[in-house]
Amino acid sequence: FAPDRSKGLLAGKHVVITAGPTHEPIDPVRYIANRSSGKQGYALAKAAYEAGAKVTLVSGPTKLEAPTGVDRVSVQTAQEMLKATQAALPADIGIFAAAVADWGVAEPSNGKMKKDGSGPPALKLVENPDVLKTIAMGANRPRLVMGFAAETADMETHGRDKLVRKNANYIVANNVAPPEGKALGGVMGGDANTVTLLTRDGSEPWPTMSKHDVAKKLIARLADDLTGIVHA
Ligand code: CTP
Ligand code: CA
Repeated sequence: FAPDRSKGLLAGKHVVITAGPTHEPIDPVRYIANRSSGKQGYALAKAAYEAGAKVTLVSGPTKLEAPTGVDRVSVQTAQEMLKATQAALPADIGIFAAAVADWGVAEPSNGKMKKDGSGPPALKLVENPDVLKTIAMGANRPRLVMGFAAETADMETHGRDKLVRKNANYIVANNVAPPEGKALGGVMGGDANTVTLLTRDGSEPWPTMSKHDVAKKLIARLADDLTGIVHA
């Protein structure tokens, strides 16, 4: 059973979504990255497509297949992600689910770096562009902008700070701290997510759900807000 996309709540709308990690090269064989699986962003792309939208998914390297019908643009670095996302505009909705590397290597080596006996190299890092902030402050800003905030502590304070600082309409704050006593596991790479939806007006803690259910609820919310249905 395939629902009729032309009658979906997002029919005729364009949704741009960033997802996955970025890879920042150190040399031709090494990179800096993070543990993002891309699952939440891909689930959002699928849900937006099923709601009738044209979907552009700007994705860092992941092991995931592009959801049916979604236009995927594959990128490696934060710089490339910014360019590809800007190139995908205009859009009605921008969802920034990528775990963009905060820092890249200032001058990646063209050749493989070798041990030369003088100890480990000092990597000079530079701050990457903020894809969400650049687009949310830009002339082509999508009408609704949703960011994520992966935190291991003080979720709401940090999330609200990001909402204001990055000019977003929503921040989906999630606790990515690994389970008690473990260094790994939990939300990063897992199939479930526990989020708090922060808006300009308040905050809504949601129960733990699958990343697919989180995606469906977020897309339903965005569709409602785009068409002006007010939430109590
Ligand atoms: N983001 C982005 N580009 C960046 C960094 C972050 O688009 N260079 C987006 C993420 O996709 C997410 C939101 O900004 O939607 C918050 O990301 P997060 O890493 O939590 O925020 P930072 O501003 O990088 O702050 P920090 O990592 O220091 O907590
Ligand atoms: Ca960050």
